[in-house]
Amino acid sequence: MSDTASTAPLAGRIALVTGASRGIGRASALALAKAGAHVIATARSQGGLEELDDEIRALTGERATLAPMDLVDGDGADQLGLAIHQRHARLDVLVHAGAILGGLTPVSHIDPPSWDRTIAVNLTSTYRLIRSLEPLLRQSHAGRAIFLTTGRAARPKAFWGAYAATKAGMEALVRCWADEIEQTQVRAILVDPNIMRTRMRAEAFPGEDPETLTDPAEIGPMIVELALSNPGLPTETVKFNDWKAARAT
Ligand SMILES: NC(=O)c1ccc[n+]([C@@H]2O[C@H](COP(=O)([O-])OP(=O)(O)OC[C@H]3O[C@@H](n4cnc5c(N)ncnc54)[C@H](OP(=O)(O)O)[C@@H]3O)[C@@H](O)[C@H]2O)c1
Repeated sequence: MSDTASTAPLAGRIALVTGASRGIGRASALALAKAGAHVIATARSQGGLEELDDEIRALTGERATLAPMDLVDGDGADQLGLAIHQRHARLDVLVHAGAILGGLTPVSHIDPPSWDRTIAVNLTSTYRLIRSLEPLLRQSHAGRAIFLTTGRAARPKAFWGAYAATKAGMEALVRCWADEIEQTQVRAILVDPNIMRTRMRAEAFPGEDPETLTDPAEIGPMIVELALSNPGLPTETVKFNDWKAARAT
């Protein structure tokens, strides 16, 4: 470990990031690594994870641990938890950013396989990760589990049915879990990133000029701050826009 890394705010912490191959998950992984955490990065795309690892190495001199996995694979989440247990015996930070849009379609037109997949990737994975990782987060002196959500969960709109329903379900699940673990050192945090320049956003709004949108790198420092924070129950979702405005003043 380099001298800079040993004095970094998250030095020695173990952080697992889902959706780490691109977009907000990737930006979170980079920021956590820069802040000194050892990053365990997961997504399906091996190439995306390897590029992340190269960038982390260039920035910090350290290597990430790459764990390619489909979030639909619940047993894979269990195996990941077991591997983290064997290697580190605890988890300090989880950032769950992996998700899909699931298509923008009238509810009556959503095809059943697409519905099932969106539920599996966005909602069931959240339950499987919590189930697998809670014991490891409890082993940390300050386990922080950060879940990426969306304003669509609270403000549903035509054609966003599958995405909005799965994210609203995820929020409910996370709030129930947070209540259950209130007496522990573990805290759950829901984050609404607002609008960021990512593949998911481009899929939802293909006509939009991506250059007008926020670079996901901007959310990195907020994720690091949250990983170091001591919040209460996630009755309110933490909004990137509010954080950015507060930081500017
Ligand atoms: N961008 C926005 O404006 C915005 C707004 C509100 C909320 N959000 C939320 O922010 C989070 C990140 O979104 P993003 O915009 O960064 O999206 P993105 O660029 O499309 O990235 C999604 C990530 O999820 C991974 N992923 C997708 N399906 C997966 C699967 N079956 N198994 C494992 N990993 C999978 C992808 O990796 P692979 O394809 O390599 O598997 C990728 O790393 C999501 O939870 C999203 O709902 C984003």
